[in-house]
Amino acid sequence: MAAAMRLVVTGRHGQLATALAERAAGKGITLIACGRPELALEHPASIAPALSALTPDIIVNAAAWTAVDRAESEPERAHAINAAGAGTVATTAAMLGVPVIQISTDYVFDGSATTPYRESDPVAPLGVYGQSKLAGEQAVMAATGDHAILRTSWVFSATGQNFVRTMLRLAETRSGISVVADQIGRPTPADDLAEAVLGVAANLLSRRGEPALRGIFHVGGTGDAVSWAGFAEAIFAERVRRGAGAVSVRPIGAADYPTPARRPAWSVLDGARLKETHGIILPDWRIGLARCMDRLMTTEQAP
Ligand SMILES: NC(=O)c1ccc[n+]([C@@H]2O[C@H](COP(=O)([O-])OP(=O)(O)OC[C@H]3O[C@@H](n4cnc5c(N)ncnc54)[C@H](OP(=O)(O)O)[C@@H]3O)[C@@H](O)[C@H]2O)c1
Repeated sequence: MAAAMRLVVTGRHGQLATALAERAAGKGITLIACGRPELALEHPASIAPALSALTPDIIVNAAAWTAVDRAESEPERAHAINAAGAGTVATTAAMLGVPVIQISTDYVFDGSATTPYRESDPVAPLGVYGQSKLAGEQAVMAATGDHAILRTSWVFSATGQNFVRTMLRLAETRSGISVVADQIGRPTPADDLAEAVLGVAANLLSRRGEPALRGIFHVGGTGDAVSWAGFAEAIFAERVRRGAGAVSVRPIGAADYPTPARRPAWSVLDGARLKETHGIILPDWRIGLARCMDRLMTTEQAP
């Protein structure tokens, strides 16, 4: 699918950067991960030298401050990394004459919708993380027209910090877990997201003059929308299928589980634009969940 390219991704150990490295293998893509300390997004002077030295054909900015709750108490740092840092990555891409793919989030929306969000829907982030990521989108758009901004949601993988791994950890010591049931979204397997990023990258490089391939796109898992409680039930069902004991999920309201950051009640993204322009549609998230559980439970049972 993807053509030969030299793709530089920011962030070394992130979920998406890790999945990109795995998915690029065998496709003729040279993938180079670039991260701290050489490239630290809150230190603008580090960015252009680190990226330029790697002579990319295309840059994917997957690095970000993703600690949604901590961002509330450290807004300046979140903005430095997610907004100013993203802008400097895009400015560097423009300077090098290469496209940039910026990864963004469903948290740019306030969650008051009742139908899947289109790219043109009004943004109104509820917290610092969403505000900083939105400012990052705007900084990228100001820096270069040769960009694709990919908003995704509820990312999980067999590595890193995510909801699937948290649920499995809790299941080790509990037979019942209370989970928020009034926030609805669609989970996104990081490896499916990585495939989509590689597809978009190939299109941006092979069809340089096409404005329709540039701009904002929603890139989330497909299949049914679920609450966090529904996602947890799916995880525990997969766990039982692999021989572990049952864990019950007690649905609770977000108000019963207060967190520093407010989160959107509705996070479902509409992927129609990605399909129509880039010809990319992600698989059902439940297929990716089964694949992730195979990896996690095999790993966890290993001596
Ligand atoms: N996770 C989700 O549910 C979710 C949902 C929607 C959108 N997104 C977006 O998707 C993208 C990828 O997310 P992810 O889940 O892969 O994130 P992740 O696993 O939290 O990884 C974040 C990456 O950013 C790097 N990073 C953090 N601060 C940095 C800094 N100051 N300078 C340089 N690198 C820094 C980390 O570096 P180290 O490798 O050194 O730790 C790590 O590689 C992000 O843009 C995120 O905002 C994520």
